Amino acid sequence: MRHATKNAVRHTTVISLLLGLAVAFATLTSVAAQPAEQAGQPAAAAPAAPPATPPTAQPVAPPSVAEGEKGSAAPAASKHWWDELAATPWDSSGTSWLPISVNKAGQGTDTMFIAVLAMSYFFFIAIALAVIVFVVKYRHRPGHKAQPSPAHSDALEITWTIIPTLICVALFVGGWRGYVALATPPRKALEVKVEAWKWAWQFTHANGVEDSNLHVPVDTPVRLVMTSRDVLHSFWVPVLRVKQDLVPRRYTYAWFHATKPGVYRLYCTEYCGTNHSQMKQTVVVHPAGGYEKYLTEKYALSQNQSPLERGKALYTSKGCIGCHTIDGNRTVGPSWKGIWGEQITLGDGSKVTVDENYIRESIVNPTAKTRPGFPPSMPVFDTLSEADIGGLIEYIKSLK
Ligand code: CUA
Repeated sequence: MRHATKNAVRHTTVISLLLGLAVAFATLTSVAAQPAEQAGQPAAAAPAAPPATPPTAQPVAPPSVAEGEKGSAAPAASKHWWDELAATPWDSSGTSWLPISVNKAGQGTDTMFIAVLAMSYFFFIAIALAVIVFVVKYRHRPGHKAQPSPAHSDALEITWTIIPTLICVALFVGGWRGYVALATPPRKALEVKVEAWKWAWQFTHANGVEDSNLHVPVDTPVRLVMTSRDVLHSFWVPVLRVKQDLVPRRYTYAWFHATKPGVYRLYCTEYCGTNHSQMKQTVVVHPAGGYEKYLTEKYALSQNQSPLERGKALYTSKGCIGCHTIDGNRTVGPSWKGIWGEQITLGDGSKVTVDENYIRESIVNPTAKTRPGFPPSMPVFDTLSEADIGGLIEYIKSLK
């Protein structure tokens, strides 16, 4: 082997070693930096790059503004404190890379993300620079003869096998530990049942209290038992670093341990049809005592509600609001405003009066009588009680 070729091999080996060391350093740094952010000083640890979204600009905006921002078509102001709380602007603090993390169980996710990102940047820049340096250094010049490339070099082969292997093993171990942590809820976790359908969420809390928003206590492990009524949906809360599909006719699980009280965003992140993008709700992480207060007061309220109040509450909690407006505007389904007692024309040309029987049938068997121009996409609500259906009828009656 010629002297110059040996030198090239030696250079390449040294460069590979340096790359490996730098990657190990970058990974360790990001791992070390992570717990500090998790410990509750995200503003201090993070670069000052908060997303300039309206919710940040108006942290104490009235609920009506918040509803507008979220695209919720609810002109009727929420009158209960928990609904007003859920309608306040989402906490959108964080860095330009990631929103804040408030899940104790999801810490490893950020570490892995930053490690992979740092490595990708590092190798992209290092390889691009090496290519440029080699192109210039070994370019063809008059008087220089091309030298043969080495057919084999043990040092080089060993270096570029061992370093990537170590990196892959480190990534696998980190990923595996994170996966196990996120897949194993503690036994004493608080349980919330989640049901999704086109296009609404329903969270059934302890006591059977139902809500279209998820309410949880701070500093408590929460386990979600989730299923779908129709198609695939996916539960995603960015600040929790939790994303899990909801599958019809089976249960899937997710869990988290929220560390910071606040109001956070919740999305459906599996494309599920027309109003997929409207399946955005709120996770309210209550400070100590707040969750119990919410459960007690909402339960008491549901026990002595008038039928009209019950119907009004169901309009939101059962997700009717996703497709039916109460102000006359047309969305996926017909508006409820002013339909009571009206004669409407059906798809087959026949006419029907909107009365108790028509409304009941439209709820428990939505495709029996469909109206022209509206997709037959409403899910069947045959699990509603008599009192629930009666309440919805009273509510529709009241929408003159
Ligand atoms: Cu539900 Cu997308």
